[in-house]
Amino acid sequence: MAVIAVYSIIGGVGKTTLAVDLAWRSAVLSRHATLLWDLDPQGGAGWLLGQPESIARRAASVFQRDGRPRELIAPTRYPRLSVLQSDESMRSLSVALARIGKRRRLAHLTAALSAEYPRIIVDCPPVLNEISDQIMAAADLLIVPLPPSPLAARALDMLRREISNSQHRHPPILPVLSMYDARRKLHREVHTGLAAGWPVIPMSSMIEQTAVRRAPIATFAAWSEANLRLQRLWDAIESKLALRAAISA
Ligand SMILES: Nc1ncnc2c1ncn2[C@@H]1O[C@H](COP(=O)(O)OP(=O)(O)OP(=O)(O)O)[C@@H](O)[C@H]1O
Ligand SMILES: [Mg+2]
Repeated sequence: MAVIAVYSIIGGVGKTTLAVDLAWRSAVLSRHATLLWDLDPQGGAGWLLGQPESIARRAASVFQRDGRPRELIAPTRYPRLSVLQSDESMRSLSVALARIGKRRRLAHLTAALSAEYPRIIVDCPPVLNEISDQIMAAADLLIVPLPPSPLAARALDMLRREISNSQHRHPPILPVLSMYDARRKLHREVHTGLAAGWPVIPMSSMIEQTAVRRAPIATFAAWSEANLRLQRLWDAIESKLALRAAISA
């Protein structure tokens, strides 16, 4: 089993788009029962998959002592892919979690769901607070999409400092260069310097279209370069997880 969090301190870098895409690949192509868990009050992950809006306003209740995540998990139109949608109740989650004082609440919840869902993909809000602490404790792998800019590199440094200062174990980080445009000199420079060896997701109108069509790119533009890049990223993640499983076996 593996918990893969798509996380960045910066907003609008493509986290939700990527989390939804990876969850779809995990379920449909790799054939794992997969849960896409949305922790962002904006609730975009389910929406991108074409799910109806969640009206229950109960998403945060899952974190209470007697919380029942299974009651809120819904199937999607895709085989083996389920979603735990977010809603406005998640706005106060950070405060509520700090009050409870259990740093591993999310980790316990994902562990309890792991028999049913060997892959759990978490769409994270762009925060560095109690919620990100919970994510660090629960995740086996942190995918960090970063646009090719000095500010994004600085944010990645901040994140690395933050987690190395923590006394707790933290997951490995896989930075992914996102919204990459090879026509731009700055992007090329970042790619050849700082980001050598990182997976690259191009700036792509086909990826933008996933929000218009509310469907994963592979369902309508399987031929595109962007789809190929996303598949390569998913394959790299699967290899990393297989290696980790082999080492711990
Ligand atoms: N590779 C890409 N190429 C072009 N557009 C993209 C790409 N990835 C995401 N987008 C677009 O960028 C916008 C922001 O994407 P998304 O909502 O996934 O970011 P986010 O990091 O989850 O944002 P937030 O921090 O607000 O949750 C959306 O309009 C999305 O369609
Ligand atoms: Mg998002």
